[in-house]
Amino acid sequence: MQTQLLTDHRQAAEIIRHGGLVAFPTETVFGLGADATNSEAVAKLFLAKGRPGDNPLIVHLHDRSQLPAVAREVPSIALRLLDAFAPGPLTIVVPKHKSIVRSVTAGLDTVGVRIPDHELARAFLKAADLPIAAPSANRSGKPSGTTVEAVLEDLGGWIDAILIGGTSRIGLESTVVDCSCLPPRVLRPGAVTLEQLRSIVPDVEILNSAATTADNSPGLRHAHYRPAAEVRLVERASQVGLDSLSAYMGIEPIAAHRSLGLYRCFDSVDKYASELYETLRHADRLGIKTIYCQTVPAVGVGQALADRLRRAASTDFA
Ligand code: TXA
Ligand code: MG
Repeated sequence: MQTQLLTDHRQAAEIIRHGGLVAFPTETVFGLGADATNSEAVAKLFLAKGRPGDNPLIVHLHDRSQLPAVAREVPSIALRLLDAFAPGPLTIVVPKHKSIVRSVTAGLDTVGVRIPDHELARAFLKAADLPIAAPSANRSGKPSGTTVEAVLEDLGGWIDAILIGGTSRIGLESTVVDCSCLPPRVLRPGAVTLEQLRSIVPDVEILNSAATTADNSPGLRHAHYRPAAEVRLVERASQVGLDSLSAYMGIEPIAAHRSLGLYRCFDSVDKYASELYETLRHADRLGIKTIYCQTVPAVGVGQALADRLRRAASTDFA
């Protein structure tokens, strides 16, 4: 299959309406979209990503008017969170409507729903006029795609088209909040922080990684965000091995950085977050063996960044 690069969101929407697969930019990362009411399209999507069938997908909407078509009920807490953070990098998990096919939710009775804060994405979703299931646009286990180049690298030849125009400003995936239970709980940290969530719903819980199990957060069953190179976390730049097959990314500068194969020093945690995945991929393109990543304090978007760094470096599923 030849993967087309499209700038016209209406053409991209037509492909979705005919059961095809289209990658599209959002403010978090690129999504790989399929009609969430078409089980054949969803089956193709799982195949293209190499995604395990037990990991549910997020359904994307252009606005709240589509909610009754995807959710059986929307608890008032979920509505309050949508009032505060939608459109934006927030996914709410709510009881699923029967129109959403089983494979989208991996057999669960709940569905993750998100309204992206990205003009082109919403124009595309509106033109498709269907709920669109979209995981991050990458081969399963790899760092999420945040550029057209990354999406082509992983999915070129597997999908019908990539909608181009606009970037992934945030660079890390949405905050996932399970609103089907009380108190609601954060299943995946993202750019909407715990403090922000608690300013709206004070009792929101975040399960620490030790207590979060694959039963309540299916995404944890599998490896994520891993480049081919080994990722090592360091607290200080002085812990980095200085050689041409090593890379460094972090906030603290390294004086002797010329001996490194790749060096990225970011001037903010936000920038570090938004460039993380593309830098990991770039290191792989250069044949780097070890990527040293400086850890960050878990405040603001640092909560999500610290989580992704920990998983990129994890050897749990090696
Ligand atoms: O920012 C994002 O969320 C991006 C863009 C494309 O919107 N999407 C994304 O999708 O990151 P994906 O498939 O890579 O991650 C979805 C996460 C997984 O951890 C999955 O387990 C969780 O959301 N999830 C989806 N539906 C769920 C449900 N019904 N119950 C619990 N977790 C769910
Ligand atoms: Mg993903």
